[in-house]
Amino acid sequence: MSEFKTLRGMRDFLPEDARTMIYVEDVARKVARLYGYKEIITPVVESYELLAAKAGDEVRSRMFAFRDLGGRHVALRPEFTASVARLVATTLRNEPKPFRLFCMGSAYRYDEPQRGRYREFWQSDYELVGSSRPEADAEIIMLTDSLMQGAGLKKFTMKVGHVGVIRGILTQERIGEKQQSAIMQLMDKKQYDDAFKLVKNARASEKCLTVLRQLVECSSNDISKMLSRMEKLVENYEKSVAAVENLRQILELVSQSGCKIDATVDAGFARGLEYYTGMIFEPYVPHLDIALGGGGRYDRLVELFGGESTPAVGVAHGIDRIALGMQLKKTALKVEKEKTVMVIPIKEELRSEALKISRMLRDAGVLVEVEVMGRKMAKALEDADRRKMDYAIIVGERELKEGTVVIRDLAKRQQNTVKIDKMADEIR
Ligand code: HAM
Repeated sequence: MSEFKTLRGMRDFLPEDARTMIYVEDVARKVARLYGYKEIITPVVESYELLAAKAGDEVRSRMFAFRDLGGRHVALRPEFTASVARLVATTLRNEPKPFRLFCMGSAYRYDEPQRGRYREFWQSDYELVGSSRPEADAEIIMLTDSLMQGAGLKKFTMKVGHVGVIRGILTQERIGEKQQSAIMQLMDKKQYDDAFKLVKNARASEKCLTVLRQLVECSSNDISKMLSRMEKLVENYEKSVAAVENLRQILELVSQSGCKIDATVDAGFARGLEYYTGMIFEPYVPHLDIALGGGGRYDRLVELFGGESTPAVGVAHGIDRIALGMQLKKTALKVEKEKTVMVIPIKEELRSEALKISRMLRDAGVLVEVEVMGRKMAKALEDADRRKMDYAIIVGERELKEGTVVIRDLAKRQQNTVKIDKMADEIR
């Protein structure tokens, strides 16, 4: 048989890399707990129709979709928001709002693999359901700040926008929603000429084109200046003015909370998914030109899935990308090194005693491995040393008769005999 490899875009995580991923997951879970998000677990496989509904062309065309053995059109989840919206529209429909839900797990997209882009990746996803108020949007941004800080990525920038600004203009110009999405996707990719061609073909006014051009050219590091400029540009489009005002309120709330975020407002920013109706954002770190997360407000998804009209806002962070950001920054993981012990029987007849001793130690919370290769003592000690274990417990016949074992400190190369009921204390 040929040698098997992982599929393109799929990875094995060996202990060192897995440790960083789990570390980021721990930080994400801690943030969920601190902000009151309850963890739920949803299926990896869902109906294609559900996942594709508002995923946007980009994600939709890259879904791992197939027919299952029952002939159902299904797909591996490319994200969590559709599953959460399904739950809100069905099982949770009568629960008192707001609810804060948290999901963590793998997601799948047939993306072109490159640094930070894989076909299987992990997300931590937070959804705040039931509030249309700006403080809910502010919470999602603040929570993202907490996660980035927790992962040691203190220097990050937040790209912020509001889909209502451009949609407001295009709606007033009587351009349909589908066409609007196509235009916004092009603007998001900075393919402005193509975007404006679509706007022109949709018979929008000259004034509209001028406003759109000026909007995407408009940039300033000063958020308040930028928002005022945007507001002035869209003054004849009522809904767009409201969108800019909404964004201003959200960013003011974040800043007034004391959360200092280095944000830049981008008027042409759209994000790939189609369900957004309000504020959108993505965090970035230096030296990585891909977003570490992404989120925003989606007030119409739940009703699209047959639920009541339910406002919601959320974010998903790329666990892989945060881990990559940490590796690039060489951020040390804040993990306490626990003492590790190797239990070695002096001879084969003492195997069961070695297993018994190791159970006693584990019951006392000590991290224990048992020699299972049948090696001679010197070899077994050498191996424990090579693997940087802290102690060896040597199980010998004579000591056992006296209710003792030998504990060897592998770094100091010293050993002494201790009572079995005292060995855990000795190690700690
Ligand atoms: P998204 O921007 O499509 O948003 O994905 C969120 C994050 O997942 C990205 O910023 C990135 O860190 C990570 N990610 C996406 N694709 C890949 C990939 N191929 N390889 C590695 N990482 C990837 C969503 O998924 C929305 N559901 C976010 C949301 C939640 N909006 C509202 N609530």
